[in-house]
Amino acid sequence: MRFLVGLILGFLIIPVWVTIYFHMGHPPVAVADLPFLLERQIVKIPLHARIDKEMPASAPIEASVTNLTAGAQIYREQCASCHGLYGRPSGFAGHMYPRAPQLWAPHGDGVVGVSDDPVGETYWKVANGIRLSGMPSFDKVLNQTQMWQVSLLVKNAGSPMPADVTKLIQAPLDFSVPANGGVGAAPGASPQ
Ligand code: HEC
Repeated sequence: MRFLVGLILGFLIIPVWVTIYFHMGHPPVAVADLPFLLERQIVKIPLHARIDKEMPASAPIEASVTNLTAGAQIYREQCASCHGLYGRPSGFAGHMYPRAPQLWAPHGDGVVGVSDDPVGETYWKVANGIRLSGMPSFDKVLNQTQMWQVSLLVKNAGSPMPADVTKLIQAPLDFSVPANGGVGAAPGASPQ
């Protein structure tokens, strides 16, 4: 009987402890908070296992000038704000958790961005996004060719690029909006 009561109490204590911890224990929620114990491993191991199983083996299109140029245009519109441009890192990427890696900057071993990853792995990440990070899924935003074009672009980030592509990945982002807001009335204009 005492064993049974002990067993039941033992089972109860875990959900009670977890509830108290989540409400009062200050689990990490702000970007600057320390990570959970084993947080990186818990997130990275299943992500890589899934990608290894599902990623396409190779790209169905070539890294031609046309595809790299299209990739660079897509990159400027959809990726540069988080992943930076050549020589122009994103201002807020380092203040995200996890931080958004700068895809035109060499990391510790001299490798630029994700140029050492298989292009199929990058395609998987672009198409599916990475849960509980700022990395969006572009499956419903870009078509498959566009996702391959931008994946090929960042795969080749460490290699010399055609001149037009270099211009696109170096020019600063221009967030200026025409005085009339581009379309219709200017934001804040009083309704007529
Ligand atoms: C709103 C910010 C944001 C945007 C926009 C964004 N990403 Fe990301 N991306 C992230 C973050 C944050 C991570 C890191 C995820 C992690 O570490 O788990 C990431 C990770 C990645 C990775 C994996 C990097 C690595 O070191 O393994 C690739 C590749 C990538 N993004 C490509 C892209 C491409 C291509 C686009 C545009 C089509 C894009 N991202 C748009 C935030 C963004």
